[in-house]
Amino acid sequence: AGKHRVAVIGSGNWGSVASRLLASNTAKLPSFHDEVRMWVFEETLPTGEKLSESINQAHENCKYLPGIKLGTNVIADPDLESAVKDADMLVFVTPHQFVEGICKKLVGKLRPGVEAISLIKGMEVKMEGPCMISKLITDTLGINCCVLMGANIANEIAVEKFSEATIGYREDKEAANRWAKLFTTPYFLVAIVEDIEGVELCGTLKNVVAIAAGLVDGLDMGNNTKAAIMRIGLREMRAFSKLLFPSVRDNTFFESCGVADLITTCLGGRNRRVAEAFARNGGKRSFDELEAEMLHGQKLQGVSTAREVYEVLTYHGWQELFPLLSTVHEICIGQLPPTSIVEYRLAEGQS
Ligand code: NAD
Ligand code: 13P
Repeated sequence: AGKHRVAVIGSGNWGSVASRLLASNTAKLPSFHDEVRMWVFEETLPTGEKLSESINQAHENCKYLPGIKLGTNVIADPDLESAVKDADMLVFVTPHQFVEGICKKLVGKLRPGVEAISLIKGMEVKMEGPCMISKLITDTLGINCCVLMGANIANEIAVEKFSEATIGYREDKEAANRWAKLFTTPYFLVAIVEDIEGVELCGTLKNVVAIAAGLVDGLDMGNNTKAAIMRIGLREMRAFSKLLFPSVRDNTFFESCGVADLITTCLGGRNRRVAEAFARNGGKRSFDELEAEMLHGQKLQGVSTAREVYEVLTYHGWQELFPLLSTVHEICIGQLPPTSIVEYRLAEGQS
């Protein structure tokens, strides 16, 4: 077989860091072409320059990852079709709200036999129920799609601080191992788990718990409260995942994608930071406004995920079983004040 060609769809904060990490490996591993194509959602910088041109000139994403060299073998491409046309390994890493539109544009444009992996934390809710992003990719494009989730705050991985990640796969262990080989570095250890829904739901749901953790930070509630929120959140994450997909395994919650990602995001993530500001403002300034002001184009996933989870909960009449997940959404839309995050009772029979 010929050498594999890698394309990355997305170039935000994690997209840029993932491209850098992958390019350091493709340059070394003989079974991969050196070049990593990175699709850039084009924008014009305040200097008048195009973001993609600036990346190719400076080998740096000055908007979403300033100060970090990506490697000369990362090539930014603003044209989606051209970015993927030669690739047989596709890495999806955009905010989850944009994936459906991107996949529609890719129909009929991919090489036969192409494989995908999704680093995206989120879900779509359709008439027929919730649809995980990897499934959306598989269903729209007819390709196999693994997921990679973990305690991976991008800015820390950009400077090569040690961390771990989990690849979730369905049946095709060989594909999962190929992805693990491509992502593993001495500072980034990857485990594979045959529980794609469990891994993806961990990464997705912890963003809602991180909003709750940020709220308690903004209310100056202290460490015990934050630990309680994380424990209750993890419990609800597991219960929700198992109700939707009975095949989800308990052990998955002990992998990097589970408890470790929950902890790091509740301590140092963007969802936490913006939720803290929301609570400090007494809920008077919206998440959208704070996101735009504080994140300079980077996107939160927790607020929209809370809404999507809430839609699923109301559809099934499950709200009472998930007081934390439900309350986060009601606070985000201003129906409840931020202080409500600690004002609920556990439902009977729950611990
Ligand atoms: P980001 O939030 O830093 O940046 C937003 C990106 O969205 C930018 O690349 C922007 O160009 C792009 N964009 C804006 N409008 C668009 C449109 N209409 N269509 C397509 N793209 C558009 O992005 P990120 O941090 O790379 O996040 C991508 C995914 O990775 C998310 O699901 C996130 O939860 C996940 N993730 C992020 C981190 C992290 O630390 N940043 C870590 C792990 C996972
Ligand atoms: P935030 O989007 O809250 O920064 O979380 C990043 C993340 O997913 C870390 O694994």
